[in-house]
Amino acid sequence: MQHDSSQFFSLAGTAVLVTGAARGIGRAIASRCAQAGASVFLGDLDENEGEKVADEIRRLAGSDSAAAFLRLDVTSPESCDAAVLAVMEKSNGATRLALVNNAGIGKAGTVVSLGAAELEREWRVNVLGAWQLAERIIPHMLELGNGRIVNIASIGGVVGIPERAAYCTTKFAVVGLTKSIALDFGARGITCNAICPARVLTGMAEARIEEAADPEAARKLMNATQIAGRMVDPDEVAALAQYLLSTEAAMVNGSTYNIDSAWSAGHTPTA
Ligand SMILES: NC(=O)c1ccc[n+]([C@@H]2O[C@H](COP(=O)([O-])OP(=O)(O)OC[C@H]3O[C@@H](n4cnc5c(N)ncnc54)[C@H](O)[C@@H]3O)[C@@H](O)[C@H]2O)c1
Repeated sequence: MQHDSSQFFSLAGTAVLVTGAARGIGRAIASRCAQAGASVFLGDLDENEGEKVADEIRRLAGSDSAAAFLRLDVTSPESCDAAVLAVMEKSNGATRLALVNNAGIGKAGTVVSLGAAELEREWRVNVLGAWQLAERIIPHMLELGNGRIVNIASIGGVVGIPERAAYCTTKFAVVGLTKSIALDFGARGITCNAICPARVLTGMAEARIEEAADPEAARKLMNATQIAGRMVDPDEVAALAQYLLSTEAAMVNGSTYNIDSAWSAGHTPTA
């Protein structure tokens, strides 16, 4: 069979809501989706940065419908209602619908040092946020007869990470949510998969470095957790997201994809 490679993983005709899209991994995913032909809705708390990114995407795509910013707090049911409504109202021509649950937060510490309040704070963004948006968008996907959900979990949702007790707890839950959605809606055209990156060079990683007692040592260690000796580039995560959102990935469902440069394979970092 002959294939035109310029058509691989096309997202033409797809409306994609990406949460946490004002920076980091979400920004890279939003940009890639637009380059692949999607109409992208960038949901984020950060209105200033989010509007700038949407503007840049529209300019690069040369199309006003390539991107729109939506102020979104994934922890708020009302805000999730409004975001999904806006996507449905503004994506009239779209025949395919997708959600990327990317917004996430984390803080270093153990079950003793963090306390339950930190677990609750992270749970509300990382788990409840993804749940609330899936809950609202899946009925529209069922109406359309297709849907793609990609949850950005973490390698901390596959293996434990020292001093990341609340984060790992929530990211394992994101993987559980992913598999549940896949099983419950897979027979009706919806797929749900999780991407589990190791250290990605974004604001979140920079904050972890700044929090450390010795930031330079922390940076070396974070580079060394990947056997390649560097952190993951946000666009390396976006490339996999594009594939999972595409029609080519129709039979990929309920899976977790590690982008961790052999960390979970047993690599022992030596900084
Ligand atoms: N950076 C890493 O090393 C790494 C590794 C593995 C997984 N991840 C996961 O990838 C995702 C993105 O990480 P990042 O490094 O790009 O983060 P980041 O901190 O650079 O960006 C996160 C974005 O989410 C937004 N956000 C936070 N709370 C929100 C809320 N309640 N509602 C809407 N938006 C909100 C922020 O405003 C920000 O723009 C997260 O889920 C994170 O856990 C990151």
